[in-house]
Amino acid sequence: MQSLTGKTALITGAGRGIGRALAHKLAEEGVHVGLVGRTSANVENVAEELKRYEVKAVSAQADVSDRDAVQAAIKQIKDGLGSVDILINNAGIGKYGRFMDLSEDDWRYVWEVNVMGVYHVTQAVLPDMIERQAGDIVNISSTSGVRGTEGSSAYSATKFALHGLTESLMREMRRENIRVQAITPSKVITDFTAENNLSDGSEDNEHFMQAEDLADVVVSQLKLHPRMFVKNTELWATNPK
Ligand SMILES: NC(=O)c1ccc[n+]([C@@H]2O[C@H](COP(=O)([O-])OP(=O)(O)OC[C@H]3O[C@@H](n4cnc5c(N)ncnc54)[C@H](OP(=O)(O)O)[C@@H]3O)[C@@H](O)[C@H]2O)c1
Repeated sequence: MQSLTGKTALITGAGRGIGRALAHKLAEEGVHVGLVGRTSANVENVAEELKRYEVKAVSAQADVSDRDAVQAAIKQIKDGLGSVDILINNAGIGKYGRFMDLSEDDWRYVWEVNVMGVYHVTQAVLPDMIERQAGDIVNISSTSGVRGTEGSSAYSATKFALHGLTESLMREMRRENIRVQAITPSKVITDFTAENNLSDGSEDNEHFMQAEDLADVVVSQLKLHPRMFVKNTELWATNPK
Protein backbone atom coordinates (compact mmCIF):
# COMPACT_ATOMS: atom_id res chain seq x y z
CA MET A 1 0.00 0.00 0.00
CA GLN A 2 1.12 3.58 -0.56
CA SER A 3 0.28 6.76 1.32
CA LEU A 4 -1.66 9.40 -0.57
CA THR A 5 -0.54 12.25 1.70
CA GLY A 6 0.81 15.22 -0.23
CA LYS A 7 -0.52 14.07 -3.60
CA THR A 8 -2.81 16.27 -5.71
CA ALA A 9 -6.17 15.20 -7.15
CA LEU A 10 -8.46 16.85 -9.66
CA ILE A 11 -12.13 15.84 -9.40
CA THR A 12 -14.75 16.85 -11.95
CA GLY A 13 -18.36 17.28 -10.91
CA ALA A 14 -17.06 17.92 -7.41
CA GLY A 15 -19.85 20.23 -6.24
CA ARG A 16 -22.34 17.54 -5.17
CA GLY A 17 -22.90 13.82 -4.75
CA ILE A 18 -20.11 11.37 -5.49
CA GLY A 19 -17.60 14.09 -6.47
CA ARG A 20 -18.11 15.91 -3.18
CA ALA A 21 -17.75 12.67 -1.17
CA LEU A 22 -14.54 11.86 -3.06
CA ALA A 23 -13.18 15.33 -2.27
CA HIS A 24 -13.80 14.79 1.46
CA LYS A 25 -12.31 11.27 1.57
CA LEU A 26 -9.20 12.30 -0.36
CA ALA A 27 -8.70 15.42 1.78
CA GLU A 28 -8.97 13.20 4.88
CA GLU A 29 -6.02 11.24 3.44
CA GLY A 30 -3.97 14.44 3.10
CA VAL A 31 -4.52 14.89 -0.64
CA HIS A 32 -4.64 18.46 -2.04
CA VAL A 33 -7.81 18.73 -4.07
CA GLY A 34 -8.81 20.62 -7.22
CA LEU A 35 -12.57 20.83 -7.68
CA VAL A 36 -14.06 21.40 -11.12
CA GLY A 37 -17.81 21.82 -11.55
CA ARG A 38 -20.53 23.37 -13.64
CA THR A 39 -21.93 25.59 -10.85
CA SER A 40 -19.27 27.72 -9.17
CA ALA A 41 -21.24 28.13 -5.93
CA ASN A 42 -21.30 24.33 -5.43
CA VAL A 43 -17.56 23.78 -5.90
CA GLU A 44 -16.79 26.90 -3.85
CA ASN A 45 -18.89 25.49 -0.99
CA VAL A 46 -17.01 22.19 -1.12
CA ALA A 47 -13.67 24.06 -1.11
CA GLU A 48 -14.90 25.88 2.00
CA GLU A 49 -15.89 22.55 3.65
CA LEU A 50 -12.40 21.15 2.97
CA LYS A 51 -10.82 23.87 5.12
CA ARG A 52 -11.30 21.51 8.08
CA TYR A 53 -8.51 19.28 6.69
CA GLU A 54 -4.88 20.35 6.44
CA VAL A 55 -4.81 20.39 2.64
CA LYS A 56 -5.09 22.93 -0.15
CA ALA A 57 -8.42 23.06 -2.00
CA VAL A 58 -8.88 25.06 -5.20
CA SER A 59 -12.14 25.30 -7.13
CA ALA A 60 -12.77 26.28 -10.74
CA GLN A 61 -15.94 26.52 -12.81
CA ALA A 62 -16.24 24.67 -16.12
CA ASP A 63 -18.82 22.73 -18.06
CA VAL A 64 -16.71 19.72 -19.07
CA SER A 65 -18.36 19.67 -22.49
CA ASP A 66 -16.64 23.01 -23.26
CA ARG A 67 -13.00 22.35 -24.15
CA ASP A 68 -11.79 25.96 -23.73
CA ALA A 69 -13.50 26.29 -20.35
CA VAL A 70 -11.92 23.00 -19.22
CA GLN A 71 -8.44 24.16 -20.24
CA ALA A 72 -8.89 27.46 -18.36
CA ALA A 73 -10.20 25.67 -15.25
CA ILE A 74 -7.33 23.17 -15.23
CA LYS A 75 -4.80 25.99 -15.56
CA GLN A 76 -6.41 27.64 -12.52
CA ILE A 77 -6.19 24.38 -10.54
CA LYS A 78 -2.57 23.76 -11.55
CA ASP A 79 -1.62 27.35 -10.64
CA GLY A 80 -2.98 26.66 -7.15
CA LEU A 81 -1.88 23.06 -6.57
CA GLY A 82 0.86 22.20 -9.07
CA SER A 83 0.62 19.20 -11.39
CA VAL A 84 -2.12 16.62 -10.97
CA ASP A 85 -1.26 13.14 -9.60
CA ILE A 86 -4.82 11.77 -9.57
CA LEU A 87 -7.58 12.63 -12.04
CA ILE A 88 -11.12 11.54 -11.24
CA ASN A 89 -13.47 11.93 -14.20
CA ASN A 90 -16.72 11.97 -12.25
CA ALA A 91 -18.88 14.70 -13.86
CA GLY A 92 -21.79 13.05 -15.61
CA ILE A 93 -25.47 13.50 -16.30
CA GLY A 94 -28.39 11.17 -16.94
CA LYS A 95 -30.95 11.47 -19.72
CA TYR A 96 -33.62 8.81 -19.42
CA GLY A 97 -36.60 8.03 -21.59
CA ARG A 98 -37.68 5.60 -24.26
CA PHE A 99 -35.51 5.70 -27.38
CA MET A 100 -38.16 7.31 -29.60
CA ASP A 101 -38.99 9.92 -26.96
CA LEU A 102 -35.51 11.29 -26.26
CA SER A 103 -34.70 14.35 -28.36
CA GLU A 104 -31.59 14.70 -30.48
CA ASP A 105 -30.52 17.60 -28.23
CA ASP A 106 -30.74 15.31 -25.18
CA TRP A 107 -28.67 12.66 -26.94
CA ARG A 108 -26.03 15.15 -28.01
CA TYR A 109 -25.71 16.85 -24.61
CA VAL A 110 -25.39 13.63 -22.61
CA TRP A 111 -22.72 12.50 -25.08
CA GLU A 112 -20.90 15.87 -24.91
CA VAL A 113 -20.76 15.72 -21.10
CA ASN A 114 -20.25 12.02 -20.37
CA VAL A 115 -17.84 11.19 -23.20
CA MET A 116 -16.37 14.38 -24.68
CA GLY A 117 -16.08 15.82 -21.17
CA VAL A 118 -13.80 12.95 -20.17
CA TYR A 119 -11.82 13.44 -23.38
CA HIS A 120 -11.36 17.20 -22.77
CA VAL A 121 -10.24 16.85 -19.16
CA THR A 122 -7.99 13.83 -19.73
CA GLN A 123 -6.30 15.48 -22.73
CA ALA A 124 -5.49 18.49 -20.58
CA VAL A 125 -4.08 16.52 -17.62
CA LEU A 126 -2.33 13.55 -19.23
CA PRO A 127 0.79 15.24 -20.75
CA ASP A 128 2.15 16.11 -17.27
CA MET A 129 1.52 12.54 -16.07
CA ILE A 130 3.38 11.12 -19.08
CA GLU A 131 6.28 13.50 -18.44
CA ARG A 132 6.46 12.42 -14.78
CA GLN A 133 5.86 8.75 -15.66
CA ALA A 134 3.28 8.44 -12.88
CA GLY A 135 -0.40 9.07 -12.28
CA ASP A 136 -3.87 7.70 -11.72
CA ILE A 137 -6.96 8.23 -13.82
CA VAL A 138 -10.26 7.01 -12.37
CA ASN A 139 -13.31 7.13 -14.63
CA ILE A 140 -16.69 6.93 -12.89
CA SER A 141 -18.84 4.78 -15.15
CA SER A 142 -22.03 2.90 -14.28
CA THR A 143 -23.56 -0.55 -14.48
CA SER A 144 -25.51 1.08 -17.36
CA GLY A 145 -22.13 0.88 -19.14
CA VAL A 146 -22.14 -2.91 -19.04
CA ARG A 147 -25.88 -3.64 -19.33
CA GLY A 148 -28.55 -1.75 -21.25
CA THR A 149 -31.95 -1.29 -19.64
CA GLU A 150 -35.27 0.07 -20.89
CA GLY A 151 -35.16 3.85 -21.02
CA SER A 152 -31.39 4.21 -20.69
CA SER A 153 -30.28 4.06 -24.36
CA ALA A 154 -28.57 7.47 -24.39
CA TYR A 155 -27.01 7.19 -20.92
CA SER A 156 -25.96 3.57 -21.53
CA ALA A 157 -24.38 4.47 -24.87
CA THR A 158 -22.18 7.06 -23.14
CA LYS A 159 -21.15 4.74 -20.31
CA PHE A 160 -20.40 1.83 -22.68
CA ALA A 161 -18.24 4.32 -24.62
CA LEU A 162 -16.51 5.32 -21.40
CA HIS A 163 -15.56 1.68 -20.78
CA GLY A 164 -14.06 1.45 -24.28
CA LEU A 165 -12.14 4.68 -23.77
CA THR A 166 -10.94 3.54 -20.34
CA GLU A 167 -9.71 0.14 -21.49
CA SER A 168 -7.88 1.52 -24.55
CA LEU A 169 -6.25 4.33 -22.58
CA MET A 170 -5.32 1.85 -19.84
CA ARG A 171 -3.46 -0.32 -22.36
CA GLU A 172 -1.57 2.70 -23.75
CA MET A 173 -0.77 4.29 -20.40
CA ARG A 174 0.36 1.32 -18.30
CA ARG A 175 3.65 1.50 -20.27
CA GLU A 176 4.01 5.05 -18.89
CA ASN A 177 3.37 3.85 -15.29
CA ILE A 178 -0.05 5.52 -15.34
CA ARG A 179 -2.97 3.50 -13.97
CA VAL A 180 -6.32 3.99 -15.72
CA GLN A 181 -9.36 2.33 -14.17
CA ALA A 182 -13.14 2.36 -14.24
CA ILE A 183 -15.44 2.37 -11.23
CA THR A 184 -18.78 0.90 -12.20
CA PRO A 185 -21.48 1.53 -9.59
CA SER A 186 -25.10 0.53 -9.58
CA LYS A 187 -27.48 2.97 -7.88
CA VAL A 188 -25.88 5.46 -5.48
CA ILE A 189 -28.17 7.70 -3.44
CA THR A 190 -27.45 11.28 -4.63
CA ASP A 191 -29.36 14.13 -6.28
CA PHE A 192 -28.82 12.20 -9.54
CA THR A 193 -31.16 9.40 -8.44
CA ALA A 194 -33.80 11.88 -7.28
CA GLU A 195 -33.55 14.18 -10.33
CA ASN A 196 -33.75 11.24 -12.76
CA ASN A 197 -36.63 9.52 -10.89
CA LEU A 198 -34.56 6.37 -10.37
CA SER A 199 -36.41 5.51 -7.20
CA ASP A 200 -40.12 4.72 -6.92
CA GLY A 201 -40.29 6.07 -3.37
CA SER A 202 -41.03 2.67 -1.84
CA GLU A 203 -37.37 1.78 -1.33
CA ASP A 204 -35.29 2.35 1.78
CA ASN A 205 -32.32 4.53 0.75
CA GLU A 206 -30.29 3.06 3.61
CA HIS A 207 -30.15 -0.26 1.71
CA PHE A 208 -28.55 1.37 -1.33
CA MET A 209 -25.00 2.53 -1.81
CA GLN A 210 -24.07 5.98 -0.56
CA ALA A 211 -21.57 8.35 -2.18
CA GLU A 212 -19.24 7.86 0.82
CA ASP A 213 -19.20 4.07 0.26
CA LEU A 214 -18.04 4.56 -3.31
CA ALA A 215 -15.42 7.10 -2.20
CA ASP A 216 -14.02 4.52 0.28
CA VAL A 217 -13.50 2.10 -2.62
CA VAL A 218 -11.73 4.70 -4.77
CA VAL A 219 -9.39 5.70 -1.93
CA SER A 220 -8.50 2.08 -1.19
CA GLN A 221 -7.79 1.41 -4.89
CA LEU A 222 -5.55 4.48 -5.11
CA LYS A 223 -3.57 3.25 -2.09
CA LEU A 224 -2.66 -0.04 -3.81
CA HIS A 225 1.03 -0.41 -4.60
CA PRO A 226 1.70 1.54 -7.85
CA ARG A 227 2.85 -1.64 -9.60
CA MET A 228 -0.74 -2.92 -9.83
CA PHE A 229 -4.35 -1.81 -10.09
CA VAL A 230 -7.89 -3.12 -10.52
CA LYS A 231 -9.01 -2.36 -14.08
CA ASN A 232 -12.75 -2.26 -13.43
CA THR A 233 -14.58 -2.35 -10.12
CA GLU A 234 -18.31 -3.14 -10.29
CA LEU A 235 -20.14 -2.04 -7.15
CA TRP A 236 -23.47 -3.54 -6.08
CA ALA A 237 -25.71 -2.92 -3.12
CA THR A 238 -25.81 -6.07 -0.98
CA ASN A 239 -29.56 -6.30 -0.41
CA PRO A 240 -31.43 -3.38 -2.00
CA LYS A 241 -35.13 -3.24 -1.13
N1 LIG B 1 -26.01 8.27 -8.54
C1 LIG B 1 -26.03 7.12 -9.18
O1 LIG B 1 -26.93 6.29 -8.99
C2 LIG B 1 -24.93 6.77 -10.15
C3 LIG B 1 -24.79 5.44 -10.53
C4 LIG B 1 -23.80 5.09 -11.41
C5 LIG B 1 -22.94 6.04 -11.91
N2 LIG B 1 -23.10 7.35 -11.53
C6 LIG B 1 -22.17 8.34 -12.10
O2 LIG B 1 -21.51 9.02 -11.05
C7 LIG B 1 -21.14 10.32 -11.47
C8 LIG B 1 -21.57 11.34 -10.43
O3 LIG B 1 -22.95 11.21 -10.22
P1 LIG B 1 -23.71 11.76 -8.93
O4 LIG B 1 -24.70 10.73 -8.54
O5 LIG B 1 -22.77 12.29 -7.93
O6 LIG B 1 -24.51 12.97 -9.63
P2 LIG B 1 -25.03 14.38 -9.05
O7 LIG B 1 -25.39 14.25 -7.64
O8 LIG B 1 -26.06 14.82 -10.05
O9 LIG B 1 -23.76 15.32 -9.16
C9 LIG B 1 -23.16 15.51 -10.40
C10 LIG B 1 -22.10 16.57 -10.29
O10 LIG B 1 -21.49 16.70 -11.60
C11 LIG B 1 -21.58 18.04 -12.00
N3 LIG B 1 -21.77 18.16 -13.44
C12 LIG B 1 -22.83 17.71 -14.16
N4 LIG B 1 -22.67 18.03 -15.43
C13 LIG B 1 -21.51 18.72 -15.52
C14 LIG B 1 -20.82 19.33 -16.58
N5 LIG B 1 -21.32 19.34 -17.81
N6 LIG B 1 -19.64 19.92 -16.31
C15 LIG B 1 -19.15 19.96 -15.06
N7 LIG B 1 -19.76 19.40 -14.02
C16 LIG B 1 -20.93 18.79 -14.25
C17 LIG B 1 -22.76 18.63 -11.26
O11 LIG B 1 -22.59 20.03 -11.21
P3 LIG B 1 -23.71 21.02 -10.62
O12 LIG B 1 -23.29 21.17 -9.20
O13 LIG B 1 -23.61 22.23 -11.43
O14 LIG B 1 -25.03 20.34 -10.80
C18 LIG B 1 -22.68 17.92 -9.92
O15 LIG B 1 -21.80 18.58 -9.05
C19 LIG B 1 -21.78 10.52 -12.84
O16 LIG B 1 -20.81 10.30 -13.84
C20 LIG B 1 -22.85 9.44 -12.90
O17 LIG B 1 -23.10 9.02 -14.22
C21 LIG B 1 -24.08 7.74 -10.65
